[in-house]
Amino acid sequence: MKITAAITAVHGYVPDYVLSNQVLETMVDTNSEWIESRTGIKERRILKSKGLGTSDMAVEAIKGILDKKKISAEEIDMIIVGTVTPDHIFPSTSNIICDKLGAKNAWGYDISAACSGFLFALVTGTQFIETGKFKKIIVVGADKMSSIIDYTDRATCIIFGDGAGAVLLEPNYEGLGIVDSILKVDGSGKKYLFQQGGGSVQPPTMRSVAAKEHFVYQEGQSVFKFAVKGMADVSAEIMERNKLKGEDVAWLVPHQANKRIIDATANRMGVGTDKVMLNIHRYGNTTSGTIPLCLWDYEKQMHQGDNIILSAFGGGFTWGAIYVKWAYNCS
Ligand SMILES: CC(C)(COP(=O)(O)OP(=O)(O)OC[C@H]1O[C@@H](n2cnc3c(N)ncnc32)[C@H](O)[C@@H]1OP(=O)(O)O)[C@@H](O)C(=O)NCCC(=O)NCCS
Repeated sequence: MKITAAITAVHGYVPDYVLSNQVLETMVDTNSEWIESRTGIKERRILKSKGLGTSDMAVEAIKGILDKKKISAEEIDMIIVGTVTPDHIFPSTSNIICDKLGAKNAWGYDISAACSGFLFALVTGTQFIETGKFKKIIVVGADKMSSIIDYTDRATCIIFGDGAGAVLLEPNYEGLGIVDSILKVDGSGKKYLFQQGGGSVQPPTMRSVAAKEHFVYQEGQSVFKFAVKGMADVSAEIMERNKLKGEDVAWLVPHQANKRIIDATANRMGVGTDKVMLNIHRYGNTTSGTIPLCLWDYEKQMHQGDNIILSAFGGGFTWGAIYVKWAYNCS
């Protein structure tokens, strides 16, 4: 009997502190209306407390899943974390999360795919379920973007926020869960959106820190053009090869980078705006966190058997789409 990997629970976490467009007006040369009309963002959350990192947000999201499903941390086989803001270069954030949760029987690792991190991690977790090797895998998308954002750079600081979302993957024998996926990378896109300093090519030095090379660098207009085409192409492709029409799709769950990119993707797919999950106005772009945070926000509105398309585009470049048959109804 074919085993599929089904999402059987979802939960999220966003920090309490709200950074509104109005407050950003006092920090950089921008204005609230411009941000909202050009991106769709009204506010974003920031993890303010000192000494807290990506793992702390992920742990809160995973605890929500354990509570909902009434399972213990020891039952988890694996934790896979999509993030570009790991707590440390090593050990992996997955290691740290396992320790903080007391997930003594789990192993795992981090996946670096920028805003497509959750999709890449979800497809990876799916393989381990489909082989029959593991029964309970947590897939997390979590980023503390405020740790790599320059709050004097209006090209980036208006967009990003902090947050984490997690899902539980379990085997399914009725064809529910992850049905198909298309993932892509193009490293020649690095120059448009990347973090230059801090790695092995340019380890941190006094000079690199002074030059702000450890912050996100983005050429917004170029990224916008690639993102519109990349997300729309891959979403249309996955629909076509699964013979799905716009009306067959119950929900589009797009990466939340810019409302205009989301609208273009939905339009190309022939999916109505009422079927598009949105939280960009409240959280901004939480990088790996956006898609699982949307699933969390809309959990009660999804039904067993719904055709759901997850779609993302990220720095470097990375992009992809996943076709999911939703596996459960909320009680
Ligand atoms: C960053 C982004 C919002 C900028 O929007 P844009 O419409 O491309 O803005 P532009 O750079 O073309 O600038 C348009 C005008 O707004 C101004 N502007 C740029 N940033 C501004 C800001 N933060 N506040 C106010 N005005 C701003 C520019 O100076 C320019 O003014 P001008 O027309 O008088 O010269 C947009 O390019 C974007 O969303 N890019 C993709 C980002 C993304 O998806 N990243 C993550 C992928 S994972």
